Amino acid sequence: MSTSERRTSVRTGVVWDAVVARLEPNARVVDIGGGTGGFAVRLAQQGHAVTVVDPSPDALAALGRRADEAGVADLVTGVQGDVADLSEHITDDVDVVLCHGVLEVVPDPAAALRTIAGVLREGGLLSMLVAQRHAAVVARAMAGHFQQALALLDDPGYRSGATGRGRRYTADEVTALLADAGFTVETTQAVRVFADLVPGSLLDLEPGATAALVDLERAVAGRPEYLPLATQVHLLATH
Ligand SMILES: C[S@@+](CC[C@H](N)C(=O)[O-])C[C@H]1O[C@@H](n2cnc3c(N)ncnc32)[C@H](O)[C@@H]1O
Repeated sequence: MSTSERRTSVRTGVVWDAVVARLEPNARVVDIGGGTGGFAVRLAQQGHAVTVVDPSPDALAALGRRADEAGVADLVTGVQGDVADLSEHITDDVDVVLCHGVLEVVPDPAAALRTIAGVLREGGLLSMLVAQRHAAVVARAMAGHFQQALALLDDPGYRSGATGRGRRYTADEVTALLADAGFTVETTQAVRVFADLVPGSLLDLEPGATAALVDLERAVAGRPEYLPLATQVHLLATH
């Protein structure tokens, strides 16, 4: 396993497991802000039809290459677009929407969630992954950036009407946003509780360390007491 594959498995293992456990065969999936297709191509390899909607032409080009190399180009569609105009690009109801690492950067998260709800079929599943504020405060403080940590502690995020770049949420905030858009949250998981604290060299050099860390991340993902320490929060919600 390469260094980047090791990092990916540690960072995304918990999210991947939760999503694939809920997919019906041949699901219709939309990956909003799916970027270069790390998730989309793996889902296509399992037979699901995935449309990635992303504003970045570079990301979409990389997605196309990755899908070709994996032999799943027929199941992966890249669309240059924004979550705000999702309903223009996605006209059929879909089974699953992935929104990973995007709610942090869209100008209007509440409107984005309403738009996502509009493309999901009744009972469809939303996989939501967002940056978590408490962990970001701890990370800044541990790096010696105490003023940044303090500023982040008091950052009201989207409620301030801030520029919208790099928001971080608490689990309660994102749960409330989802509820306001008519979603029912079914599971909430802690993601990357330890992954970002462990030196990369340890994973590179110590045999078995990556697998053991993945197991540890899995073991704490569902424990609420670890949620405030997680770099990201992952929620599965239905509409
Ligand atoms: C942090 S990356 C996350 C990529 C991928 N989903 C992941 O989890 O690794 C954020 C992605 O959102 C895309 N993005 C930014 N603004 C967006 C918007 N308004 N609507 C949809 N995607 C957006 C970016 O181009 C980028 O690919």
